[in-house]
Amino acid sequence: MTRLAVVLGSVRPNRMGGAIAQWVADQAAAFEGVEVEIVDIDAFSLPLFAEPMAPMMAAPADPAGAAFNEKIQSFDAVIFVAPEYNYSIPGSLKNAIDFLEPKALANKGVGLVGYSYSNGIRAVEHLKQIVTGFGGAVASPQVYLSLNTDVADGAFAPAAYHDGEVPAMVQAVLARSQGLASLR
Ligand SMILES: Cc1cc2nc3c(=O)[nH]c(=O)nc-3n(C[C@H](O)[C@H](O)[C@H](O)COP(=O)(O)O)c2cc1C
Repeated sequence: MTRLAVVLGSVRPNRMGGAIAQWVADQAAAFEGVEVEIVDIDAFSLPLFAEPMAPMMAAPADPAGAAFNEKIQSFDAVIFVAPEYNYSIPGSLKNAIDFLEPKALANKGVGLVGYSYSNGIRAVEHLKQIVTGFGGAVASPQVYLSLNTDVADGAFAPAAYHDGEVPAMVQAVLARSQGLASLR
């Protein structure tokens, strides 16, 4: 059994990310032998990171930060669903990632889904750098969604050309996680 997290990176009350994370999770759950869980950063009520030690030197002491770190460590693979905020990822997601020890993502398959009016490209590009720093294996392809063409009447409505994109990414994420299992 491969445990796969779908991390929801926005914490806004009316976030579009909830529907997108569910869309990703539903398609990932169709894979045999995969247990999928949406990890909502908002549910952890994380403080701003202010640990005395960097997590690469000591696990976070803050209870919420520790709970998030331990939660992500419990998975074999992770998919981040991230909007683009000011040409990058949301501060909420960066702050959450700052609580992670390297082993939370090292040698795990990592999938990236970006969304925004400009397809979340810069959010995904920045996540590639961050995840690679942890030793995570970013899978290609990634999924890029547009709020211009993938929303109808205010609700997430992915255009037909996205069909097949999430399964292709999940397959690549699982292949990396399975291939790197002996290193974790
Ligand atoms: C603080 C903030 C900054 C944003 N910056 C960008 C941006 O740089 N590029 C872009 O295309 N959209 C930008 N947007 C639009 C968001 O991508 C869009 O509102 C999206 O729905 C946010 O995800 P969420 O609804 O899940 O929070 C921004 C939105 C917010 C709230």
